[in-house]
Amino acid sequence: MSIKSAALAALASAYKLNGLGAVPSVIRSTKPEFGDLQCNEMMRLAKATGKNTHDLAASVAAAARNDVFDEVSVAGPGFVNFRLSNETIAAEASAMLGDPALGAEKQRPIRTVIDFGGPNVAKALHVGHLRSFVIGESLRRILSEIGHDVISDIHLGDWGLQMGKLLYGAAIASGWQHGDPVPFIKDFSFDEMSVEELGILYKSGNAASEDETALAVARLLTNMLQDGHPILTAAWKRMREISLEAVSATAEQLGAHFDLLLGESDAHSEIAPMLDDLVSRGLARESDGALVIEVSGEELPDNAPPLLLRKSDGAALYGTTDLATLRRRVRDIGAQQIIYCTDDRQALHVGSVFSAARVAGYANGIELRHVTFGTVRGWNRKPFKTRDGSAAALGEMIELALAKAAEKVKDKDSATAVGLGALKFTDLSIPRKTGYVFDIDRMTSFEGRTGPYLQYAYARICSILNKAALAGIVPGVTISVSHPSERAVLVECLWYPHSLSEAARRLEPFEIAERAYQVADTFSRFYTDCEVLTGEDPPARLATCKLVAQVIGKCLELLGMETVRRM
Ligand code: ARG
Repeated sequence: MSIKSAALAALASAYKLNGLGAVPSVIRSTKPEFGDLQCNEMMRLAKATGKNTHDLAASVAAAARNDVFDEVSVAGPGFVNFRLSNETIAAEASAMLGDPALGAEKQRPIRTVIDFGGPNVAKALHVGHLRSFVIGESLRRILSEIGHDVISDIHLGDWGLQMGKLLYGAAIASGWQHGDPVPFIKDFSFDEMSVEELGILYKSGNAASEDETALAVARLLTNMLQDGHPILTAAWKRMREISLEAVSATAEQLGAHFDLLLGESDAHSEIAPMLDDLVSRGLARESDGALVIEVSGEELPDNAPPLLLRKSDGAALYGTTDLATLRRRVRDIGAQQIIYCTDDRQALHVGSVFSAARVAGYANGIELRHVTFGTVRGWNRKPFKTRDGSAAALGEMIELALAKAAEKVKDKDSATAVGLGALKFTDLSIPRKTGYVFDIDRMTSFEGRTGPYLQYAYARICSILNKAALAGIVPGVTISVSHPSERAVLVECLWYPHSLSEAARRLEPFEIAERAYQVADTFSRFYTDCEVLTGEDPPARLATCKLVAQVIGKCLELLGMETVRRM
């Protein structure tokens, strides 16, 4: 039972006794003096039933009283306030202590594909990828924790015109000149090539394609690659491999796990049959030599342009591979829910793909969700850039965080965990749609809502438990409430199952970050106010410490952060 469901159950029977047909709802009290939970529905229900609000509230409160609560009272114009009894808190907290799920109930499993990371071949990972990796990984963990069957896929950008531009860059570097015959890539060895060199090839290909003739060559190369030209395919394969190795290394460093490392190109064999299917059912139509599908829907503006499926030169586009990938995820993986984690600038693209999938009947009964997030900004409030004006490289941002953490934390392993934790927690400690300023000093501070603050709180409790163990004191198996500060920290722990289900429902890791922070913050007050090892009942208070460590530890794990026992 969660504390919320206890209040809901009490209200449900009170509503029944008062002849109210409504489904009750409660929220956490906005102020501690109002108790732990409150119901704000009496004004509305009184109006609907023609009753006096205060009378109705008093009669509902009287009927809702039971021994879970010390007090069920009416405040103001008709708020019904619930105050949990200390016995309830102690019993619930003790049950949580022995439960690896910490009181969270598993949900009916939903087969979920989560698509995050979003890297592209040959392009260095930059600041824009940080949030997709961090938020995506946290959601992967949250959804698995609540019982879903989650499959993560990185969806590498490895097809389309970008690849034509890359091949063009490689052709130029291999000495090919306009007018030379194809194949373009001659005696060019990719074997020793680093991902940085690959980036240079891409940049040169991309810059050259500003000119129309070069762009035409890049387009031609894209088509030749998509048609399976052997020399281009071999070069592309090698370049893809080099990129994927680098991306996988960063993903591993960030603790992001991918069950599948598929890319846009993996959808290629699906495209022709899919387009035939759409044309034969009259869903796709020709427009100026191109093939398009009409899109509409609430996530799209009224005049959203149709989704382009095939260009007049025959090339497939980003939307085409995405639609084919979606279809395959449903058909071959059995996805019941697909989550795309990209920044909000892709809203039109993702919304169009969703709409096309619905029109085509590829997503019948399937939940499609776009998880967007705000931008990481620099001090000037503009998207975070490096000195040369390009988007900050993700690798450099990680290095910066690790270097700062190493200045502050002596133990090497702990410093790595703290540096990465600082980066991740900053990203997750605000609602995801909000952007933030990249401020490395604030991120690595041990004060305030930061990763290091939470990791430190966890390490401190571990050291308390260690010290107790050395003195021969073991935490008890039951928790009691011996002080208002202990009550406060335990109530924060008891909200964990609710935070988890909210995080999963709204795809919002911030709920977990905030839970961890509230628990750690109330714990430090408890530890100041209450003697743990020298007080009246050390095992009971140690049990509280242990539960707090469990809750903070679980939250950090769900945020993709590592805990450290020593700092
Ligand atoms: N590679 C894309 C980009 O750089 C992001 C991919 C997101 N996933 C997707 N299925 N479209 O913008």
